[in-house]
Amino acid sequence: MSPKWLGKCPSCNGWNCFAEEPLPDPDAGGRPDLVFGGKPLPIGDIPAEEGKRMLTGMAEIDRVLGGGLVSGSAILVGGEPGIGKSTLMLQVMQNLAAGGRRVLYVSGEESAAQIKLRADRIGAQAKDLLVLVEVSLEKILEQINAVDPAVVVIDSVQTVYSSSLMSAPGSVGQVREASSRLILAAKKNAVPVFLIGHVTKDGSIAGPKVLEHMVDTVLYFEGDSGHAYRIIRSIKNRFGPANEIGVFEMRDRGLEEVPNPSAFFLAERPENAPGSVVVTSLEGTRPILVEIQSLVAQSNLGMPRRTAIGVDSNRVSLLVAVLERICGLHLGGSDIFLNVAGGVRVEEPAVDLGIVAALASSFLDRPVDPRTVVLGEVGLTGEVRAVSQMDMRIKEAARLGFNRCIIPKTSSPSAAAAEKISVTAIGSLAELLENLF
Ligand code: TYD
Ligand code: MG
Repeated sequence: MSPKWLGKCPSCNGWNCFAEEPLPDPDAGGRPDLVFGGKPLPIGDIPAEEGKRMLTGMAEIDRVLGGGLVSGSAILVGGEPGIGKSTLMLQVMQNLAAGGRRVLYVSGEESAAQIKLRADRIGAQAKDLLVLVEVSLEKILEQINAVDPAVVVIDSVQTVYSSSLMSAPGSVGQVREASSRLILAAKKNAVPVFLIGHVTKDGSIAGPKVLEHMVDTVLYFEGDSGHAYRIIRSIKNRFGPANEIGVFEMRDRGLEEVPNPSAFFLAERPENAPGSVVVTSLEGTRPILVEIQSLVAQSNLGMPRRTAIGVDSNRVSLLVAVLERICGLHLGGSDIFLNVAGGVRVEEPAVDLGIVAALASSFLDRPVDPRTVVLGEVGLTGEVRAVSQMDMRIKEAARLGFNRCIIPKTSSPSAAAAEKISVTAIGSLAELLENLF
């Protein structure tokens, strides 16, 4: 094999006997649900066939999947080692098996006895939950065909290796080959497959990142194993909204669903403490209240520290500059720390105003009223810009007992939403500071 044309064959020394042969496309070529060579069709004539979804029985998981498991779908479950991937998947499989479905849990990381220990902790006893300890891709595929399970879990995709490749297990080539063959099997047999993949803190290790485009759905564990809560976010989903989150708590009997995340994230909030502000962040289809905490302290360093956890640090630098320049708060010589309580990541620009309020509150040492929610995007000239889905956000705040909402004057909530809470509409940061302190 040669990547380019050669006149003389290096093996048989013959001339002009090198023929071009296209490599089969491992991703799409063999997928039974992709039929090539047809004619263009009007979009209205294409039958919509989503098929029936299989419910896992864990409401938080069904929601992040977009309403249950789609047949033949491939789901990547990523996260740091020790965060709870194996535990979660074993619970999901136990639930499915308890409902009378035969499911196959393939592990290349732990012995059957270790899996049994975990299963005892979480109470997984169902007789239709089959466990296979195996790392050879060919043998795994053979067993999938023999057992004909309703759902397969591969724990983890980094341990699977194919004898058709020379590279070491866990290398990018092996991980990609194993995944593409497993995904193919999933599509062919219409069996959903969960691929567990380890990622390190910076998400760099070979594996999950290269798989993201191959699978239908990508779920990642957020937060860290030092806390009890676990947040599972759908980064990508071909069968539902992305960015949906499911919230769990790690207990001694496995992961337990947290049905009311807003209350959960605000549980330990200090009231009337400077630097603490509550915002509503839209995570997928669900509004969730989170607390933003800020600490602004006089710095002893030539270059003050800026640390942001849970929010984009570039965004924070921008907001600090706006506060300094437009509102005249002299933050330049201060260390600034920002944190989203509860370990959630909030990426939305709608939390800008909350960040600004937290920074100003800590800098001025004046608390923000604990029953006030702050919402809005902030522009470079200090203007406050509209945010989407205002009604949902206001209703969630009202439900949790908040009585005032500071919002951009350009996003107008419906009368029904506005009557639940007192709404203050503002247009600039100067107005924000006036209304807060
Ligand atoms: P695990 O699912 O093995 O993590 P991963 O597969 O992502 O590497 O989870 C490991 C952690 O979870 C471990 O530190 C122990 C903890 N744990 C509990 O706290 N309670 C439980 O019921 C279980 C099964 C695990
Ligand atoms: Mg594991």
